[in-house]
Amino acid sequence: MVDEITDHGPILNPIPATVLDPFLGAGTTALVADRLDRDCVGIELNADYAAMAERRVRNEAGMFAAVAIEEEKDAIQVRQPSEAQ
Ligand SMILES: C[S@@+](CC[C@H](N)C(=O)[O-])C[C@H]1O[C@@H](n2cnc3c(N)ncnc32)[C@H](O)[C@@H]1O
Repeated sequence: MVDEITDHGPILNPIPATVLDPFLGAGTTALVADRLDRDCVGIELNADYAAMAERRVRNEAGMFAAVAIEEEKDAIQVRQPSEAQ
């Protein structure tokens, strides 16, 4: 499948390119982007999945892959004990 994607010339195969996955999950899109020499920006609501995606990219992407994690306060809701029901 990766070969099929990369066999269509420069119009359908732009590099450099950045892939946006607004529902990153476990990070498969980021791994495939790295394999195809693209950058990837991913957004993930669930902190456990975000951590899994970070771990997978750090472990499985090329040794020169740079991973930056930004935590958006509005994306992960943290309740104080007094607010918990
Ligand atoms: C089907 S999974 C993503 C699979 C991934 N895109 C892939 O290609 O392997 C959907 C993910 O979207 C996340 N999600 C759902 N609503 C979201 C939102 N509003 N913002 C960010 N992530 C969200 C869920 O936590 C879940 O991990």
